[in-house]
Amino acid sequence: MKIFKNKAKLVDEILNKNNVAFVPTMGSIHKGHLSLIKKAKKESKNVLVSIYVNPRQFNSNSDFQKYPRSLKKDINLLKKTKIKYLYLPKYNDIYSFKPKSPIYLDSFSKKLCGKSRPRHFKGVVDVVNRFLEIIKPKSIFLGLKDFQQLTLVNLHIKKNKIPTKVFSCSIIRERNGIALSSRNTKLNTSQINIAGKIYKYLKNNKKKVLYVDLKKEKIKLINKIILLGAKKVDYLECINLKKLKKAKKINENYKIFVSYYIGKIRLIDNL
Ligand code: PAJ
Repeated sequence: MKIFKNKAKLVDEILNKNNVAFVPTMGSIHKGHLSLIKKAKKESKNVLVSIYVNPRQFNSNSDFQKYPRSLKKDINLLKKTKIKYLYLPKYNDIYSFKPKSPIYLDSFSKKLCGKSRPRHFKGVVDVVNRFLEIIKPKSIFLGLKDFQQLTLVNLHIKKNKIPTKVFSCSIIRERNGIALSSRNTKLNTSQINIAGKIYKYLKNNKKKVLYVDLKKEKIKLINKIILLGAKKVDYLECINLKKLKKAKKINENYKIFVSYYIGKIRLIDNL
């Protein structure tokens, strides 16, 4: 695995590679990230993983500072995956040029996480767009854990006719059902159990969540989640995956989208 801390050297190395498979991450590598890498390796010999905690997608500096970082451990884990390249950019590598493609931010960015984190998706699409212009990968691998992020990046790529194929990767979960996330490292055992109970409750009550939502009695479900141990529920919504709008009927292709706090840790999931 070759490690690049410098954009010019990386670009020089991959200049003639027309099949780079790109897996962007913010590090604290876990099995969710590793599943993306596994899929990328099936597509290409030239897998490039980036680790960059992007300050522009955080809503506050304190959240950015508190984001878990474990670079040494990450490098050891990634070496074992036998990827070709690891890119660890500095701020100036990413933000010192003007990208050719303008940021396209679909109105879906205003829903769900967009309501409580107003600058988040602009920051995400911007950083991914910049990575795409530097790396020019043939493919990019993104997780369905962050469905809204994946959808918005995909729509940006389509709108700007960027020749990179988007691969969606399924959600990897812990044994108790909770989606793996770098932020889980901040939870203690009892908090992990709470998250597991919330997952189980939502999974077993998927239809009920939709009915209750339609009857405008969602407060009952929110109270139930709080009773299970969450501190606060940011949102709980049923979204039609094609229309990207609130689901209204049980036979629609929909998922429950949820975001809640356990202590100070904000978790998101969709199921
Ligand atoms: P990060 O949270 O590190 O996630 C990197 C990628 O791993 C994302 O595509 C995310 O959806 C995927 N992922 C995380 N947990 C997963 C899980 N349990 N199962 C499957 N995939 C999972 O998402 C970001 O970083 C950043 O916003 C980024 C795209 C790198 C831009 O800064």
